[in-house]
Amino acid sequence: MKAKNLKKKYLDFFKSRGHAVIPSASLIPENDPSVLFISAGMHPLVPYLLGEPHPEGKRLTNFQRCLRTGDIDEVGDAAHHTFFEMLGNWSLGDYWKKEAIEWSYEFLTKELSLSSKRLWITCFAGDKDAPRDTESAEVWKSLGVPDKRIFFYGKEENWWGPAGETGPCGPDTEMFYDTTGSPHAGNCKPGDKCGRFFEIWNDVFMQYNKTKEGKYEPLEQKNVDTGMGVDRTTAVLSGLDDDYKVTDLWGNILKTIEESTKSKYKGNEKAHRVIADHVRAATFVIQDGVVPSNKERGYVLRRLIRRAIRYGRILGVDKPFLTEISKSVIKSYQDQYPELEEKSGQIKEVLDDEENKFFHTLAKGLREIEKLGELDGKKAFFLYETFGFPLELTEEIARDKGQKIDIEEFEGQFEKHKKKSRSASAGMFKGGLADHSKEVIRLHTATHLLHWALREVLGKSVHQEGSNITKERLRFDFSHQQKLTESEIKKVEKLINEKIKEDLPVHKSVEEKEKALKSGALANFAETYPEKVSVYTIGKDLKKNWVSKEVCGGPHVKTTSEIGRVRIKKQEKIGTDLIRIYAIIES
Ligand code: ALA
Repeated sequence: MKAKNLKKKYLDFFKSRGHAVIPSASLIPENDPSVLFISAGMHPLVPYLLGEPHPEGKRLTNFQRCLRTGDIDEVGDAAHHTFFEMLGNWSLGDYWKKEAIEWSYEFLTKELSLSSKRLWITCFAGDKDAPRDTESAEVWKSLGVPDKRIFFYGKEENWWGPAGETGPCGPDTEMFYDTTGSPHAGNCKPGDKCGRFFEIWNDVFMQYNKTKEGKYEPLEQKNVDTGMGVDRTTAVLSGLDDDYKVTDLWGNILKTIEESTKSKYKGNEKAHRVIADHVRAATFVIQDGVVPSNKERGYVLRRLIRRAIRYGRILGVDKPFLTEISKSVIKSYQDQYPELEEKSGQIKEVLDDEENKFFHTLAKGLREIEKLGELDGKKAFFLYETFGFPLELTEEIARDKGQKIDIEEFEGQFEKHKKKSRSASAGMFKGGLADHSKEVIRLHTATHLLHWALREVLGKSVHQEGSNITKERLRFDFSHQQKLTESEIKKVEKLINEKIKEDLPVHKSVEEKEKALKSGALANFAETYPEKVSVYTIGKDLKKNWVSKEVCGGPHVKTTSEIGRVRIKKQEKIGTDLIRIYAIIES
């Protein structure tokens, strides 16, 4: 069976049962800031599931584009994808379990001619939040599904939603296809990983709203939400054990990958599949208006593209190759998504740009690696942070050199960094960057001078680890083994106050991040910054003889004499290799 035929049959079936066919919404949620991407067909319909009337009525159907990145590492096997399409039909306070299940059964056994003997069912077993769903089981039995093919499970298996943190959800009943057709399942049950049963459809009975407090409140409007993954179901119902064998979905894309990588796809290579999956996802994500960046959606897109490039490298590709593959994605899908064709120029541009950029950083990173000597977890993190090198890439390079990366060490660095970013952004509000009072601005510039002076006196291993500013004082955490001696403190104070006296201009510029870092600007969380950053430079000659240069949001004083006299009040050792200094302005 072709995926296109499945989609057409599905929509026609529900249309003839009073459902309006609605278009697929964008991958970018309009109403839910708690999630990055639409991950299910019901997601764009949340307001209507909660009771707002839908302009097209109470019965809806469509195929919805979705993106889930939770299993990105599994992509490359026969059945995991990041981007996928989900067929669904909805009742917004209209029909309920009986109709929903009867139609599911009819569609599978009549329209798709699935043998009813191959159909196995799971239902919700009940818990403190909701009762056992015997009602659904009774409907299945009335259709001829015997007891022994109906299983009851808890929330883990048979509860769906909410899509974000809160919202509509409820018990579900899932339909599984038995690949053997034998009446005896042995020890294997639907939901087990034995490979015998594949989930093909899910009917969710959305009659609860999960609140922020984690409570399940009954909804006034009882809804039906169903979901059928197009890739998966087409493969399974065609008797295929591998989604990539669905030719109208993957055939041309895989062929283009073979051509562009000059590497044959023999039927199960992970690299070809990852490239196929990720380029399909990236193409749709760009179509919906996302550009690569180091944040949120942009970061997901960047990751997809870089992973695809990395798998290209495994196949021996050493130049940009993604746009050709993306073109074949567009060709395969454009009759169903006309926007793809319209945006094809933009898609190509974004992919080209990101790919070129990555090849450039790749070259730079590879040069840097030569200087780094033996690779370890810490260095792998440095490469990740500075050059955006995925861990697997550094691992691969290390392997070629006969070295090994300690993953735990890498992850340790990663966690440490995450904590730092969190405290930095928490500090952004607490620390007074939202407070643009004169005192705070003066202390902020003083902090840059302090950072510089500490590096002058203690050495360049000093790095900012945290900063917090109130109207009364600055607080600065930095990497250093032991507290400063009296004389070191005096030296630091002296340096700062000299520079204040010199009345140096503080200059703001907007620069390409990479260029700024290359010129020596200090940055605390380089990898989380956007491509263009603002940079504050303190010094008479901004080209050469500057004193301090930092990537920073500001604001700052215009010249250093505005600061007044700075005095260090207190210091503490707050961790291994972590010192905290408090300083004030005296005048
Ligand atoms: N929303 C349900 C799912 O994604 C149908 O499985």
